[in-house]
Amino acid sequence: MTIAIASDHGGFELKEDLKAFLETMGITCSDLGTFNGEESVDYPDFGIELSRKVSDGEFEKGILICGTGIGMSIVANKFPKVRAALVWDTFTARMAKEHNDANVLVIGGRTTARELAREIAKTWLEARFEGGRHQRRLDKIREIEKMWGMG
Ligand code: RB5
Repeated sequence: MTIAIASDHGGFELKEDLKAFLETMGITCSDLGTFNGEESVDYPDFGIELSRKVSDGEFEKGILICGTGIGMSIVANKFPKVRAALVWDTFTARMAKEHNDANVLVIGGRTTARELAREIAKTWLEARFEGGRHQRRLDKIREIEKMWGMG
């Protein structure tokens, strides 16, 4: 499996760590930047690129990281068919997939310890969407996108 991953400077270190961890799980990461933690960059630039690719179907899943995860979630959820979930523990990581079928995982690089972030990513990747009543709810969210002429 290949997934897209991106961060700003606030998420750079965690991105690098997660990439290495995901490789050990047999997952290849397509890294969309940023490529160093020194230079201050604007999180929308990286969030937009990844979210567009998930929205267009180029990638099935993506991981976004900024300082808190808040900015990246706001950006990602502007894109049709992107369901981005900002999670902070393994419970929210599992729910994000089982109930929300989140296709973008968002983590705060300055709020989440490395080991926990690894567990969060693993939990989200291994969880399965439950469908049923949760699909009905996602269909209602999709209707909002159509209402605004989004895809
Ligand atoms: C950058 O300093 C910081 O604002 C960004 O990483 C993120 O936390 C925004 O939500």
